[in-house]
Amino acid sequence: MIPYTLIDFVALALAAIHFGVPLIYYSYLKRVALPRPWNVRADSSFLPKVSIIVPTYNEAQLIMRKLDDIHRQNYPRDRVEIIVIDSASTDGTPDLVKKWGEEHPDTRLKLVVEPVRRGKGWALNEALKHVSSSSEVIIVTDVDSWWSDPSTLRRVANMFADPTIGAVSCIKIPEGARGVEASYRNYYNLVRVGESKLWSTPIFHGELAAFKKKLIKEIGGFPTDIGADDSHTATLIALKGYRAIVHDSITCIEAVPRKSYFQWRVRRAQHLIQHFTKLLKLKHKTPRELKTVLRTETFLHLFNPWILLATTILLIISATQGSIAATTLLTIGIAALIIKLYRMWTHQQIALMIATVRNLRTKELTWRKEQKITCVEHID
Ligand code: GDD
Ligand code: MN
Repeated sequence: MIPYTLIDFVALALAAIHFGVPLIYYSYLKRVALPRPWNVRADSSFLPKVSIIVPTYNEAQLIMRKLDDIHRQNYPRDRVEIIVIDSASTDGTPDLVKKWGEEHPDTRLKLVVEPVRRGKGWALNEALKHVSSSSEVIIVTDVDSWWSDPSTLRRVANMFADPTIGAVSCIKIPEGARGVEASYRNYYNLVRVGESKLWSTPIFHGELAAFKKKLIKEIGGFPTDIGADDSHTATLIALKGYRAIVHDSITCIEAVPRKSYFQWRVRRAQHLIQHFTKLLKLKHKTPRELKTVLRTETFLHLFNPWILLATTILLIISATQGSIAATTLLTIGIAALIIKLYRMWTHQQIALMIATVRNLRTKELTWRKEQKITCVEHID
């Protein structure tokens, strides 16, 4: 037995980077960014025409409730249109949408059906062709999500009175969440809001992603070659110098899969990795306010998980060579899994690594539909 090896020092340095960077980033956001004012000049009398795009693929189970949920919003009805874009659903989703439309003549609803499913990004671009020319704001919202507060739409729209605002998204509350998902959300909601207060966040949420229409047109529509259509569109808008914010006054409830929770997380991680990889390849001038946030998030998504893997491998090698320090560190690393936040963190690192490898094979642009634990019981 030897007390320690040289490898242990390298492993320790890597561990310090792996945990230190997000820790410093998080405490900076919490202590410095979060207490700042929003500096958003929202105007409650600003009620632009809004087009709400609802993409659907086999959503028969939830679509009626989703449309009811939108209908509950207290926005002037003559200033809203809903466009449901369906991509070759096989469970009768379009028929339900038609039925809902007939039952709600007070609502302007368009149903567009694509004969072939090519993915959400394609579908959103198809929907854009049907947006009325007088619309100023486009809102994309997933079927498995709910806007609990009837003033959500109003609040989002009011923010676009500020000419610096290019995109707005929500914080998320997971419905029926297990331990990991709940801690994951608490942590990331804070991060997104902190980033947004600094200027902009590079990660948006499909539960409610609002964009100034003019800017979507300028960036050429939604991306079709990657999965994170919401985050990528928001970031391209932020790179043009506008703010893309996740605002803490906008809350959405999101359904969480009943089964295949980990696969769901891996798929979302795949999409985020595609988003940050695409940004790396793009030649862009990053506005000063966005630089640190974008660099840190790129590092955290693309590189940091691998540092954890390298640390673990080095410690295992050293432990097998008889290092007491390495064995102790490994034991602490495993024992600490009883701490919820640390468990959530490790879970996410593993998801990101598996996602990187899976991306080599499939981009998951037309993903398998999961059964969700839904919150509709609470809302009805
Ligand atoms: N029209 C159309 N075509 N809609 C689709 C397709 C498609 O090929 N695939 C999925 N959708 C719809 C679903 O019906 C749902 O309303 C929404 O897109 C999101 O699908 P989910 O299956 O709920 O995906 P998620 O919640 O795990 O995905 C999240 O992450 C993605 C990026 O990783 C959401 O936030 C997505 O909006 C986001 O793009
Ligand atoms: Mn979803």
